[in-house]
Amino acid sequence: MFENYFFYKDGELYCENVPIKELAKEVGTPFYLYSKKAIEDKIKSYKEAFKNYPTLICYAAKSNSNLTLLKIFQKNDLGLDTVSAGEIYKGVLAGFSPEKIVYAGVGKTDREITYGIDKGIFSFNVESGQEIDVIDYLAGKLGKKANISIRVNPDVNPKTHPYISTGLRKSKFGIDIEEAVKVYKKAVKKKNLNVIGVHCHIGSQILDVSPYREAVEKVADLVFQLKKDGIELKYFDIGGGLGIKYKPEDNPPKPKDLADLILPIVKETGLQLILEPGRSLIGEAGALITQVIFTKNKKDKHFIIVDSGMNDLIRPSVYDAYHHILSVEKKNKDVVADIVGPICETGDFLALDRKIDDVERGDYLSVLSAGAYGSSMSSNYNVRPRAMEILVDGDKFFIIKEREDYDYLVEKEINPFKNLKNKI
Ligand code: LLP
Repeated sequence: MFENYFFYKDGELYCENVPIKELAKEVGTPFYLYSKKAIEDKIKSYKEAFKNYPTLICYAAKSNSNLTLLKIFQKNDLGLDTVSAGEIYKGVLAGFSPEKIVYAGVGKTDREITYGIDKGIFSFNVESGQEIDVIDYLAGKLGKKANISIRVNPDVNPKTHPYISTGLRKSKFGIDIEEAVKVYKKAVKKKNLNVIGVHCHIGSQILDVSPYREAVEKVADLVFQLKKDGIELKYFDIGGGLGIKYKPEDNPPKPKDLADLILPIVKETGLQLILEPGRSLIGEAGALITQVIFTKNKKDKHFIIVDSGMNDLIRPSVYDAYHHILSVEKKNKDVVADIVGPICETGDFLALDRKIDDVERGDYLSVLSAGAYGSSMSSNYNVRPRAMEILVDGDKFFIIKEREDYDYLVEKEINPFKNLKNKI
């Protein structure tokens, strides 16, 4: 199934040409493991699908903002989709030109907006009338002009998990599409703004592309209406959202399926296209490698207790998400088990009632499709250092994020007290 980048050879799981067991023994667990080839192949498939139309592919940093991974996208000429000044900061550090950085989010603070204007980012994707006023005001204060696109909410159901459906009217995102003309008319009057485009993002992990057509058609109608009203835009940003394979039977759409569906409509508008894929570029390229600490049989259940939990990968707990899990060494026998972490919560699991190789204490497991929203959503809950991150390139591997240590975890708490008279 995920055979291209994570595959068995003589009963042992490899990432590209690196045997995962040997690597795990050398560096310790848990760690995130990424295949460079997988990332580059995904980039190629997007570029190939959209090569005949002017398109800027902005990698969604929120899916995984490791600097080395950002650098791979930057070197491949992608832009960056961000949702905080922190992500802009990391993007610039990784070498992205600010002219290729777009910035969305319903709650940009004055500090973050000022930072973006100062850096000269490509576009603020604005999500409310108030935000337009504030960006205009802050740009004026800096004596600069800010580029904006307006994020419209097309009220389309992306048929995915409700927590990651963003294009429905009831969600907090964007401006209702019916209000958009009014808002554009207001925005173009602002002295310190260039109104350059329109943005929408309907949701994430989309496995059936048809909602994209509905959304793009609605937004295209808006573009035509604006043209009639004398407002000419340059960019049509359709966000991200393409789904990936989590279950062996999943058959996710390819970038080409998206291109075939939307390009004919986008072409009619004459606008340049912007895409913001995250998961579909990095998700399948990554796995979380964890070690079995204990196994135990309770009356009704077998438990496999591993050394990574919801602090490393929260998706199963939050979205009830399925991640396929493989034993790093194939076994001859299966069991049905809950694979759980060491955290003091019942919701701390990687899989429930899962048929899996009958692993024992000391064995390793590989949690697949964990490249997106894995490390980027990890936390230090239970004062657990965040996992190491490793990139594989052929038969070589590179540590691209060290494992956090306890000193690092307490640093920000101890330092402020140094200058206080009444120390704890
Ligand atoms: N653009 C915007 C404005 C977004 O809000 C998102 C994701 C993307 C692009 C990238 O979407 P993607 O291509 O990765 O689907 N934590 C959740 C996913 C949250 C997605 C948030 N927005 C999860 O683990 O499934």
